[in-house]
Amino acid sequence: MDADRQTLEQLKEAIRQHDYAYYVLDRPKVLDSEYDELMRRLRELEARHPEWVTPDSPTQRVGGAVAQGFAAVRHKTALLSLANAFSAQDLRNFDQRVRQLLDGAPVEYVLEPKVDGLAISLLYENGLLVQAATRGDGETGENVTSNVRTVRSVPLQLVGEAPPALLDVRGEIYMPKRSFAKLNEQRAAAGEALFANPRNAAAGSLRQLDPQVTAGRELGLLAYALGENPFATHADALEALRTWGFPVYPHYKVCSDIEQAIAYIDEFAVARQALPYETDGLVIKVNSTAQQQALGATGKDPRWAVAYKFPAEQAETVLEDIFVQVGRTGVLTPVAVLQPVKLAGTTVSRASLHNEDYIRDKDIRIGDTVLVQKAGEIIPEVVRVLTERRAANAAPFVMPATCPECDAPAVRLEGEAATRCTNPHCPALGREGLVHYASRNAMDIENLGPAVVTLLWNAGLVRTPADYYRLRAEQLVQLERMGDKSAHNLLAAIEASKARGLERLLFALGIRFVGVKAAKTLAQAFGDIRRLAQAGQAELTAIPEIGPRIAESVVTWFSAPENQSLIDELAEAGVVMQASAKPVAAQSALAGKTIVITGTLPGLSRTEAIELAENAGAKVASSVSKKTDYVLAGEAAGSKLDKAKALGIAIIDEAAFRALL
Ligand code: IVH
Repeated sequence: MDADRQTLEQLKEAIRQHDYAYYVLDRPKVLDSEYDELMRRLRELEARHPEWVTPDSPTQRVGGAVAQGFAAVRHKTALLSLANAFSAQDLRNFDQRVRQLLDGAPVEYVLEPKVDGLAISLLYENGLLVQAATRGDGETGENVTSNVRTVRSVPLQLVGEAPPALLDVRGEIYMPKRSFAKLNEQRAAAGEALFANPRNAAAGSLRQLDPQVTAGRELGLLAYALGENPFATHADALEALRTWGFPVYPHYKVCSDIEQAIAYIDEFAVARQALPYETDGLVIKVNSTAQQQALGATGKDPRWAVAYKFPAEQAETVLEDIFVQVGRTGVLTPVAVLQPVKLAGTTVSRASLHNEDYIRDKDIRIGDTVLVQKAGEIIPEVVRVLTERRAANAAPFVMPATCPECDAPAVRLEGEAATRCTNPHCPALGREGLVHYASRNAMDIENLGPAVVTLLWNAGLVRTPADYYRLRAEQLVQLERMGDKSAHNLLAAIEASKARGLERLLFALGIRFVGVKAAKTLAQAFGDIRRLAQAGQAELTAIPEIGPRIAESVVTWFSAPENQSLIDELAEAGVVMQASAKPVAAQSALAGKTIVITGTLPGLSRTEAIELAENAGAKVASSVSKKTDYVLAGEAAGSKLDKAKALGIAIIDEAAFRALL
């Protein structure tokens, strides 16, 4: 090899090791000046031989050009979120559910910090970083590779024992406490808006179109999981991550039961103060990979992990009044009107009191001084009443016997906590249903929030979602605070909602028990609302994940004449009633089947195989279970193949796969 070339490789390797020592281990081995000298020499050599510059060179961390925006990236394995626990009792309940689902088997837990930053998925191909994506909605995120490359503790190239050819590393990108304080100081001095917390600062820094700006911010990585864990335990995965060069929390704790985990909380409450990054709790994960797989997930939360949150900041205020709101299902919800109080960065003036029992259990009365906090950081709640400050004449709250919207009797059914309006034509149902239809996870109609819907409703312009599509500008401008421009924007937003597709529409219709997830399942299974409308109970329950409760509710909904005309009117208005998904080849033998792809295929890349399978209507899963229909196995297929054999699942090669397609 050319002498220059050899020097170049040595320089790259030396810098990489120094980066690792400095950014990952936090134990620098050389002086800054020595490091700078190595970088200078490397730059000089690369300038002389541009053909030798490789993407994993330490000089290439800041290389990307200014972007126009971030491309969408579909995650191969979803980035899950976590359910929260706020007390030792919550953790015991979590543990009980876990062990119940595992038939009483002993369960080990791993505890690690919950870092307050943003989740990232890092993709390595043959040891090289090829893609970094934000979590997004868990299934699709944003491609932020150029920016993540500037984060010095993110390895561009893996080290240690041969990592898998394809590696999906999950972790948190954070801004260290000190850098956050420094950045805000600088911004204050420059008269720029301050970041509310390190998490916002990290997110804002990572979502910069110019990687130079990101490079100028100090960000760190903490790796905490693998997209697919080939090891027997989570702790093994953490160790592997460490040997591959990732920063991992070194003092993660393996506990043999939940009581040990609970005992560790107090210890960590002290330790977290010394950590360089902000933490808002502890993540508690089932250690065994097999147990994790057996437990699976509900919606976006794994059943095998939970986030224990440290108690939130609390504040005292006066509960001035309680009013009662009627929701789209007719449930009466009491809401506390609070004397406005600052809490964890925002002003709080309302808090839901949920139901009659909640108020009675906490003995909340109008005029009380109460302690409030934010649950899960956003939703304000009344923690307790400071009874010692209660006025002598404060009377207990009484749930109204009639609906505050329509005066019809309100009743509480046996065994339910909710009080409901008995009038099926209560205006609240229609109005709140309209609010729901336009909301973010539903048809996502911008600027059509509760306030505007109420205006439209009170003006008598809308009664059902179909009315939205009949609105005209001259009607809108008559409304309070609605100018030409807002009217025009609103109509454009309503128009845009027509193309949302079946999945969102099904959720938007507000069919009881059909949440985001069931709507997606139904949309994928039927593809067209007319087909779904004709489905009977049996056809519905034949779909995995659709139980009798949802099935019955769907059948009932579609059998009501007013709902049938609603569908007709929406269709007439041009609302798309089909699933936006790729045309599903119903005749393909793979339609509706669950397939797991493992190993290297002779004629298809993994991505191509996934695409073909999905286009044929199959669901591609990441792990083998009893629900798997086929395992497509290529060269060097490992544990998944073994598991498939053990479970007696059909194993196919590429040729058989093509035949099935
Ligand atoms: S595990 C099970 N581990 O918390 C998969 N998440 O509330 C969930 N987070 O989106 C991720 N520290 O951004 C995991 N040690 C940790 C974490 C962690 C912070 C974040 C992550 C996730 C969110 C869920």
